[in-house]
Amino acid sequence: MRTILILIAVSILGGAAAAADVVLRPAEVAAHKQRMVDAEGHQYDLFESLQANALPTTAKAADKLVRLLAKEQGYWEKGGLDDATALARRNLAAAREVSTAAKAGKLDEARAAFAEVQATCVACHELHPENRLIIGR
Ligand code: HEC
Repeated sequence: MRTILILIAVSILGGAAAAADVVLRPAEVAAHKQRMVDAEGHQYDLFESLQANALPTTAKAADKLVRLLAKEQGYWEKGGLDDATALARRNLAAAREVSTAAKAGKLDEARAAFAEVQATCVACHELHPENRLIIGR
């Protein structure tokens, strides 16, 4: 009797663990992919406005990117991937720096921070963290 109870307990716990492994839903993945497409647009706007030395436009595009990257950080946190979360955090911090520098009229600093934004976008893509996410139905 005791053995049977233990077996039942083990199978229930096993089932709970399997359900807990599912960390992201397809709708969340789709929202992330849309954010990436939008991030590309903001990144292009940043590039263009920095080329034109247009600091107010730079700050506006950087703020849009900041809002989007804050959601991205939450996505990777929820996905449970520490390395991708760390890169998302650096990506977000760099976008914030672009905004701060642009608002302070510091073009060179804004450009340097933008280079860091681009480097951290690429670093995460090269990591291919999407292959390690556990996506449910
Ligand atoms: C923390 C990781 C991470 C960061 C940071 C990141 N990305 Fe991505 N990005 C991904 C992953 C993973 C994919 C592949 C899509 C997926 O999740 O299956 C992707 C895909 C994309 C795509 C292709 C979207 C599509 O489905 O067609 C674009 C464009 C893109 N990212 C732009 C950017 C830009 C621009 C930045 C920086 C401002 C950025 N990404 C920062 C992880 C990241």
